[in-house]
Amino acid sequence: METSSLIAHPDHAVIWDQERLYLLDQRLLPQQSHFVVCETAADTGEAIRTMVVRGAPAIGVAAAYGVVLAARMRFAEAGEHWRAHLATDLVLLESARPTAINLHWAIERMRGLIGQLDHLDPVPALLAEAKRIHAEDVVANRTMGDLGAALITQPTAIITHCNAGALATGGYGTALGVVRSAHAAGNIRQVYADETRPWMQGARLTAWELQQSGIPVIVQTDHAAASLMARGEIGWVIVGSDRIAANGDVCNKIGTYGLAVLARHHGVKFMVAAPTSTIDLAVASGEDIPIEQRSADEVLGCAGQRICPEGVSAYNPVFDVTPAALVDVIVTERGVIEQPNVAKIQALFA
Ligand code: MRU
Repeated sequence: METSSLIAHPDHAVIWDQERLYLLDQRLLPQQSHFVVCETAADTGEAIRTMVVRGAPAIGVAAAYGVVLAARMRFAEAGEHWRAHLATDLVLLESARPTAINLHWAIERMRGLIGQLDHLDPVPALLAEAKRIHAEDVVANRTMGDLGAALITQPTAIITHCNAGALATGGYGTALGVVRSAHAAGNIRQVYADETRPWMQGARLTAWELQQSGIPVIVQTDHAAASLMARGEIGWVIVGSDRIAANGDVCNKIGTYGLAVLARHHGVKFMVAAPTSTIDLAVASGEDIPIEQRSADEVLGCAGQRICPEGVSAYNPVFDVTPAALVDVIVTERGVIEQPNVAKIQALFA
């Protein structure tokens, strides 16, 4: 497939076709529709690191295909000894970004399968597994969409932060999956999308994705939420997550914590939609989640232009942690957890 023949659609941000991985370049949306072609694990790791593909479940899916590319190269080089250097490729993919646990989760699942394979060509089995990870994510999103939408019982306006939509997943979306299903049920009057400095995932990606789906969306600065909530028009804040700790603390795009505090103050409900692949039972609380720090340049400039005085630096953590106590409900594909805590999260996995 030539990249020029691919059509940019939110549900097709990650495409495997004819032995190649195509990633819709999310850095350029919505102005340009361009697909990056990955032929190796190194290409895939670089695409994840540089935000061509982003969003926790989407980078997990992309990394699973990256493992297929790695195995293909190692088998072509070493035949039955294909395993020799594959472990390094997996570590490289896994280290592309530190916070979203879905990346580690997907690689671990591929690693588990690698452990069961013999010395023959590993690609068919690994490709089938990567496709399963991709397809299961879409099914999980649809289930979460139904479960989350059932909680929104009357027409309302909602706020979302960053992009937790089809673009950020295998398709349909987590938070935006709930929005899609609730909109279909007639219960979304208006979506307010925080622009989400500095990468503008809300202004660029959520706005584009919802517009394509005919869901009413208004973009607002990240600071507008407080006054909007004070007007009493917002029923829910609905967000995704990059990692949920064993006690229900939720790590998501920087600014999410502030929204949760505001929501509690104004009596607005706070919903997190995330598949169980986002829950990390190995971290006891949000304090243990590694928070990615990105370059100061992302904050010091805007649209490629420096706006701060030379010599000034910037603080750029790209995720924050919302304590479980501020979360009204976590929606997963296995069920809904109200007022999350350790016991309820454990029960989900029992
Ligand atoms: O830095 P990003 O764009 O990868 O951050 C993405 C988010 O924070 C999303 O809200 C999260 O991954 C959930 S996506 C379904």
